[in-house]
Amino acid sequence: MCYVLCAIHYLILAIKKPGTRYLVPGTWYLVPGTRISSSQNIRIFAPVMQKQQIRKGFSKLNKDQKVDLTASYFEHPEEAARELKSFWHENKDIQQRLDEFAENTISNFFFPYGIAPNFVINGNMYLVPMVIEESSVVAAASNAAKFWSERGGFHAEVISTTKIGQVHFNWKGDVEKLHAAMPEIREKLIAETRSITKNMRERGGGILDIELIDMSDELDNYYQLKASFETVDSMGANFINSCLEEFGQQFRRFLKEDDRFKGEEEECEIVMAILSNYTPDCLVKTWVECDISEFEQMDRNLSAMEFARKFERAVRIAQKDTYRATTHNKGVMNGVDAVVLATGNDFRAIEACAHTYASRKGKYASLTNVSITDNIFRYELTLPLAMGTVGGLTSLHPLARFSLELLNNPGAQQLMMIAAAVGLANNFSALKSLTTKGIQVGHMKMHLYNILNHIGVTKQEKDRAVAHFQDKKVSFSLVKELVANMRKEKS
Ligand code: MEV
Repeated sequence: MCYVLCAIHYLILAIKKPGTRYLVPGTWYLVPGTRISSSQNIRIFAPVMQKQQIRKGFSKLNKDQKVDLTASYFEHPEEAARELKSFWHENKDIQQRLDEFAENTISNFFFPYGIAPNFVINGNMYLVPMVIEESSVVAAASNAAKFWSERGGFHAEVISTTKIGQVHFNWKGDVEKLHAAMPEIREKLIAETRSITKNMRERGGGILDIELIDMSDELDNYYQLKASFETVDSMGANFINSCLEEFGQQFRRFLKEDDRFKGEEEECEIVMAILSNYTPDCLVKTWVECDISEFEQMDRNLSAMEFARKFERAVRIAQKDTYRATTHNKGVMNGVDAVVLATGNDFRAIEACAHTYASRKGKYASLTNVSITDNIFRYELTLPLAMGTVGGLTSLHPLARFSLELLNNPGAQQLMMIAAAVGLANNFSALKSLTTKGIQVGHMKMHLYNILNHIGVTKQEKDRAVAHFQDKKVSFSLVKELVANMRKEKS
């Protein structure tokens, strides 16, 4: 039945748009989309229907072969290949470096790199680099930065910097014996990883502690070695994972060699050894505060106190309602992620951790908190941010390095404070708009640009459209209609 409906649907589409090929259900495609665009114009490539088949050895092909094979899935392979190559970096060394960040690389995927100026954080002024594809985020961060720069700026402090890793293992035996042996186990694991930890110790970091966690109540025979680390200015993932894998091996050896463990107690199965991206003790706090009277000009229809109270209410809602909390925190992460990306940090780790932290009390809630006391409005954000300024992409990616230079080569703690402040700034701007004029007004100009770029307009058409929509709601069909009318007028 579904196939019949789909067939009718495709038939209708084909009649509407002759010459276009359509995706067929049950067919395997390399790419789901049908369109790629270039800076010159927008071209439509319909993917060529492919037989269902497994591609073997793709990774063994050289880059050009991978490009050609990928392009062969398009109706105009040469154009598709040219399109992919048009995004290659002109400097071969840089391109090779980019290629080597991942596997099967055939091109670069560009994202806007923007600047939010006027960020005063603990008295220092920053131009903050932000990598983000969503319109209005950089503008929102910049507006809040400017507003708060005239009211004491953002204050920030790092509360803690501990990272966590775990060796998960199965073991059968008397757990009291394991507990009793932990001091020696800890000493052995630390001693046997001295060569791995040497550099980190020289930089002031290393292994902080290793504890035994008994989770056999929750899962038969399941235990952990839970280790804590200080990784100074690096995010430390490789360092932590190397230590943990060595812990696993040394722990097994210990059980075999120590006389206290007999029979099956001598054996343990290491299930896995891996860092945890949940770092509730790698925590940063940032806040802004001002006299309520500073909100006098916030909105035409609200007094300063009414604005503050409405803002407070919006935060309380995000503390109570999970649906709202998710969007509220998304607004925080708009800013945080943009800085995380611009500085070559691991945004997936940061995201995963932030949302786990937001659920730490058993219910997902707002990451921010607000208070109004004695006419002082204070708004704060506390979140875990495991960021680094050395290692990983931070020095290898040319623009990540540029970002760090622009931020005056911060250490990890300074970067945590900067990213958190930008998160709070974005969230502040979002709530300010939501509780006053709504967010659509601010989004409309960017939305209009996106639609105009999508349609493909001249500079003159763009200017006229911007003037036309200055005081009107923007929608795709209205913009299309306007452009069509302008073109009709002209012809
Ligand atoms: C959009 O990217 C972010 C907002 O939805 C955040 C919020 O609702 O607080 C505006």
